[in-house]
Amino acid sequence: MNLTVIGTGYVGLVSGTCFAEMGNTVTCIDVDENKIKGLKKGIIPIYEPGLEPMVKRNIENNTLLFSTSLKDNLNQCDVAFIAVGTPMGEDGSADLKYVLQVAKEIGEHMSTPLIVVDKSTVPVGTADKVRETIAKELKKRNADIEFHVVSNPEFLKEGDAINDFLKPDRVVVGSDDDSATKIMRNLYSPFFRSSMDRLITMDVRSAEMTKYVANAMLATKISFMNEVANICELVDADVNKVRIGIGSDSRIGYSFIYPGSGYGGSCFPKDVKALKRTAEEHGYTPELIKAVEDVNDRQKFVIAKKVTEKYGEDLSGLTFAVWGLSFKPGTDDMREAPAIYIIKELTKRGAKINAYDPKAMDEAQHFYLKDVPNITYFTAKYAALENADAMILLTEWKEFRAPDFGELKKLLKSAVIFDGRNQYDHDKLKSMEFEYYQIGKKS
Ligand code: UDX
Repeated sequence: MNLTVIGTGYVGLVSGTCFAEMGNTVTCIDVDENKIKGLKKGIIPIYEPGLEPMVKRNIENNTLLFSTSLKDNLNQCDVAFIAVGTPMGEDGSADLKYVLQVAKEIGEHMSTPLIVVDKSTVPVGTADKVRETIAKELKKRNADIEFHVVSNPEFLKEGDAINDFLKPDRVVVGSDDDSATKIMRNLYSPFFRSSMDRLITMDVRSAEMTKYVANAMLATKISFMNEVANICELVDADVNKVRIGIGSDSRIGYSFIYPGSGYGGSCFPKDVKALKRTAEEHGYTPELIKAVEDVNDRQKFVIAKKVTEKYGEDLSGLTFAVWGLSFKPGTDDMREAPAIYIIKELTKRGAKINAYDPKAMDEAQHFYLKDVPNITYFTAKYAALENADAMILLTEWKEFRAPDFGELKKLLKSAVIFDGRNQYDHDKLKSMEFEYYQIGKKS
């Protein structure tokens, strides 16, 4: 099929590239000329394992094209995916200005029948708005061209995006038209060689809701465990043991119950807020969803609180080595990363930071922590420890999992570790005379 993907962010670029890999011809569109110029040469603006070779391979095969012009790429197109950003508006709702601008352009320029797919995470009712916008533009032109709007939310995770897209747990297609559903089925059939059961079809509104509910459910699991962790500390229980104890119940399961310094990233914080907002707009007060957000906001400061409990409110004269800046391992993405909040809190109190992250240093230095004073960036994890008063682990990158603790002890001024991701063995560190602070277990 001939596909157009509008928006070359995480979702757009990964979807477009994977559809090309599956034998379609895909044109990815973006208004950012520099980005498109780079992409044409195979330069990827994000860090995502496996993406670059796949982009390059499909460029060479002429199955993946890039352009800044939507207008020129709507003819001959079977399906157009809208994958532009839906940033958080001031009131917490998803801002649809980019989605509706694209819908308008589609209506202005489409000349052959088209299926328009909402791939961006958009609130319930957006497909109706997209449909109205396109219809309005067609009417202005007196053009009678058939089109259908489908909701096909994307569930990929950063850091594992290619795998998630090529081997999805499920694909949700919300469509009110049988012919459009059939085309979507054909498009996804190569992804499910053995069983099409994992392609779940439903009405458009339920599909739009599904994406928010999936993310809010996962965020709920995390906030629940973070709350449990805080209670565990007070009653002298160990959340790591409790986690294993409850995860073994197949109704609960082991995934997404790791306590830590709170969830971050481009999806959970934004989507939880947007779902809350949608409920409020309909006169409903979503107590639980609101609490998920409040617990997460508080959780980001738990490690900073442990630091001030040990050293006092004034941290001047102290240096902390921070391992990990990105919101999770496997990505350079720092959107809503707990590291931002923790580092700002510590430097505000006079502390100096020696920072190291395998991928996110550029993002930190030039963007998220640009205006934060007293941060020195190190290109190696051990170098960041030298003469620091303590090490603070904030992202569970694999390379932090089993460090040489003897070396750590030698380099740090004193053997103190604050672990925001519960990566280490408490008893081992105790036997090595480390002071070890973690989440959900009294130190
Ligand atoms: C998420 C969803 O998983 C994905 O389906 C959706 O499409 C986009 O949002 P992503 O933002 O890439 O994906 O990150 P994810 O791996 O889900 O992690 C989100 C956050 O939760 C991270 O900050 C992570 O550290 C945190 N987390 C995750 C925990 O604190 N504990 C856990 O047990 C799991």
